[in-house]
Amino acid sequence: MIGIILAAGKGTRMKSKLPKALHTLCGKPMTRWIIDACKGSGIQDCIVVVGMGADQVMAGLGDGVRYAVQDQQLGTGDACKRAVALLGDEDADVMVLPGDTPLVTADILKKLASEHSSSGASATVLTTILEEGGNYGRVIRGPDDLVTGIVEAKDASPEQRAVCEINSAIYCFKRSLLKVYLDRITPANVQGEYYLTDVIGLMASDGLKVGAVVSEDPDIVEGINDRAQLANLTSIIRSKINRRLMLDGVTLIDPASTYVDHDVRIGADSVIYPNTVIEKGSIIGRDCVIGPSTRLVKVRVGNDVTIISSNVVDSEIGDKTWIGPFANIRPGCKIGKDVKIGDFVEAKNAQIGDSVSMAHLSYVGDAEVGEHSNIGAGTITCNYDGFEKHRTTIGRNVFVGSNVTLIAPVTIGDGALIAAGSTITEDVPGDALAIAREHQKVKEGWAKKRRESKGK
Ligand code: UD1
Ligand code: CA
Repeated sequence: MIGIILAAGKGTRMKSKLPKALHTLCGKPMTRWIIDACKGSGIQDCIVVVGMGADQVMAGLGDGVRYAVQDQQLGTGDACKRAVALLGDEDADVMVLPGDTPLVTADILKKLASEHSSSGASATVLTTILEEGGNYGRVIRGPDDLVTGIVEAKDASPEQRAVCEINSAIYCFKRSLLKVYLDRITPANVQGEYYLTDVIGLMASDGLKVGAVVSEDPDIVEGINDRAQLANLTSIIRSKINRRLMLDGVTLIDPASTYVDHDVRIGADSVIYPNTVIEKGSIIGRDCVIGPSTRLVKVRVGNDVTIISSNVVDSEIGDKTWIGPFANIRPGCKIGKDVKIGDFVEAKNAQIGDSVSMAHLSYVGDAEVGEHSNIGAGTITCNYDGFEKHRTTIGRNVFVGSNVTLIAPVTIGDGALIAAGSTITEDVPGDALAIAREHQKVKEGWAKKRRESKGK
């Protein structure tokens, strides 16, 4: 069995500059969900038909599939032809799928494939029953219950529109017959397109057997044509991801406001508080407390870590570290164990050693801080001179007092002490004290005299 996935369409109803195939659900592009379901059902060789934004779509969907290009979007029948042209003459079966039904499961595809091969049908359609058929193609059956045709909603008579069994646009075909019948379809319909669905009617009227497999779950064949459907199916996938996490031992205080990508891993006994978003293959260890109101993108978090009301992107965080509330950890940070990063601390491209404390109001960028150092409130690394970025290196056991400005490039040796309020422009040797601030002057009685001169 070879899989053919049709993803060349414009996706007009998405009203987007991004090709429809690349709109994501829980971090995975729509069409990649279908590719993965195909592969999961045992179909290793998949051909994806691309057209609109072909290069972008191929890059976004990635490897492990073959691509065929449909230059003009003349309809699903024409798209299918582009893929069939890549096939050899060996007589095997093909499964054709649309690129916009991301909830389809490997199990239902397996069922369709085995029903197709055991029934000996020339084609087998995956269908489902809806209360209201909407814009889906209607499945028309003959007296013997075999499928006699599929009629698009726009082309359907009122009686046909009343049919509740709809076409999922997933089918199995005998390959040689598919080739022959694709050459026979015409664009004589309301939309002026070559409909793949017409192959079914033509086969049936030639007396070939067309069977159907009915999916009991209508969700899994639901298509995405607009952003309301995108949101709806995303929420279905999201609840499945959340359910799996909970069954694996993660506490979600409020699953309805927990947004976790498909490729995220979270260890047992971690607790996720509401309004938390965890994206792009993040890996979270055991016994962590994440959220409320936290966003983690592509992060690797150890065990026993707390992250509250913070944003962390493309960084690593060691065991037992505490972050937040209101910290912004930007890409390239490697934060050690037992670190305390408190409120209004921003870090970027920084290596923070074990047991460092930066408890309040700091900016540490393009910097290294050795273990057991203390970064006082208000400390700023001045990494940018308007043209280039420079590094700040702070050794181990350094005490940086409050409100210190470190003008990079600058190096502070192990065990040094920087007095509060200092502006440091030159390297400080290990174990030294650096004070770089104006000496305090005290003028006795000055304030009283001023008050009196104003009559107060
Ligand atoms: C299609 C079916 C309809 C079915 C529904 C299920 C046809 C004619 N209709 O309708 O019976 O109920 O899916 O979701 O097949 N595509 C191309 N090239 C084209 C046109 C479309 O590759 O020239 C791709 C699209 O990218 C999309 C898929 O084919 O992934 C289906 O096309 P779409 O326009 O969404 O068809 P529907 O109107 O949903
Ligand atoms: Ca569709």
